[in-house]
Amino acid sequence: MSHDLFEAAKSAMAKAHAPYSKFPVGAAIRCDDGRVFAGANIEVISFPEGWCAETTALGHYVMAGGGNITEIAVIAEKKAKCTPCGGCRQRLAEFASPDTPLHLCDDTGVVETVRLKDIFPYGFEAEALK
Ligand code: THU
Repeated sequence: MSHDLFEAAKSAMAKAHAPYSKFPVGAAIRCDDGRVFAGANIEVISFPEGWCAETTALGHYVMAGGGNITEIAVIAEKKAKCTPCGGCRQRLAEFASPDTPLHLCDDTGVVETVRLKDIFPYGFEAEALK
């Protein structure tokens, strides 16, 4: 992974609105044309209404017209190798492919790279809904 994706995730993390958990997270998505979309977690005083960094990044990606996702990076200030929650795994799987690399970072860079299928096997798929 080139360093810019990590930097995008880290910069996004600095913008997290996480006053309740105090657990800032950043995520960045790269497309095959080089575009990078980043996001942070955004919490709300009515706790269930907040959402994750990956979801913010996906919102930017969709609003920019989408594209072929080639890699994803996630970083959390207080936890190395922060893995996406279950809901975000399903959301990432909506737009990325099972083979998409997911870079789990710490403050200095990538600690481990997994594939989406490694962390989200047997996810919900329904041909009948398409
Ligand atoms: N969070 C994320 O943004 N992404 C993850 O991958 C895991 C958890 C956020 C949600 C909440 O704002 C905070 O981390 C603590 O759960």
